[in-house]
Amino acid sequence: MSIILAIESSCDDTSAAVLRDDMLLSNVIASQKVHEQYGGVVPELASRAHEQNIIPVVDGAIREAGIRKEEIDAVAFTRGPGLMGSLMVGVSFAKSFAQALGKPLVEVNHLQAHVLSHFINRGEPIPQFPFICLLVSGGHTQILLLKSHFEMEILGQTIDDAAGEAIDKAAKIMDLGYPGGPIIDRLAKEGNADAFKFATPQIAGYDYSFSGIKTSFLYFLRDRLKEDPEFIEKHKADLCASIQKTIVGFLMKKTERAAIDRRVRQVAIAGGVSANSLLRSELQRICDKHHWQAFIPPFKFCTDNAAMVGIAGYFKYLKGEFADISLPPYTR
Ligand code: KG4
Ligand code: ZN
Repeated sequence: MSIILAIESSCDDTSAAVLRDDMLLSNVIASQKVHEQYGGVVPELASRAHEQNIIPVVDGAIREAGIRKEEIDAVAFTRGPGLMGSLMVGVSFAKSFAQALGKPLVEVNHLQAHVLSHFINRGEPIPQFPFICLLVSGGHTQILLLKSHFEMEILGQTIDDAAGEAIDKAAKIMDLGYPGGPIIDRLAKEGNADAFKFATPQIAGYDYSFSGIKTSFLYFLRDRLKEDPEFIEKHKADLCASIQKTIVGFLMKKTERAAIDRRVRQVAIAGGVSANSLLRSELQRICDKHHWQAFIPPFKFCTDNAAMVGIAGYFKYLKGEFADISLPPYTR
């Protein structure tokens, strides 16, 4: 039996978790409200908030887990990708904490962690290899073929913006607030998804592109606003539902294609955008249609959290893959 303390600080959430093997004992997240007024994450403010949050968050995770810090067998941390200043706080803290305890360090890749969140033991079935995972976060959009915990073949990915970024920008254009994903999701529930049509680009293979969708949304609104300055206000829900349907439809079409072509019968989603209710129901619908098994993460494991870093760290710990104290963070 091993106890892992995990730390995540790659963007604007400070999080710490404790796992006993693959079981989650605690998962504390401090979200940073300070960025809302700027309509996006301000890196300088993020690192300052991480500095303020890290000690209480780690303390809280240890206390909630009901363990003594001497029982920790290894400290796992997100090494990248993410914002340099934000990563620095978590990485430096993890290093000094591990050194003070005399325990090994395990470095974790944030994207792998999102995918591996499916292996946290919740008493429910976990994916069997090989399976496909659509990874959709604020910074990444990838269709991955998982061959083992750490063998992830990238079948396709975005050539420009990430899906989450496109959703956030659409929300920003409509002046809905930040982050836009959850707001669009909520407003879309009251709207007609077929009210407006937005074209998706023709991109070869399993790759994606979202910058064109964002631009055509912007131009569409600019034209309509010329005729009616109240256009967005009047059609907010329909606009949200329509742009959400466009993005989710595009995401799922290629994911479905990849699973058919690779003859894979298990499909997962991961990352912040996997909290989206339409994406979740569409994945379920498509999997039901093909008699595939869908893996949809619980909400608390979709957006950034240390639990996923902990499970990734646990698998590396089992392999004896420890990190040197001198390792710097990486941003991409
Ligand atoms: O994985 P994540 O927390 O951070 C990164 O690693 O980037 O993902 C954040 C992204 C943001 O773009 C946010 O708007 C989006 O996930 N998101 C959603 C929803 N909840 C979060 N997008 C659509 N629907 C949601 N319910
Ligand atoms: Zn993330």
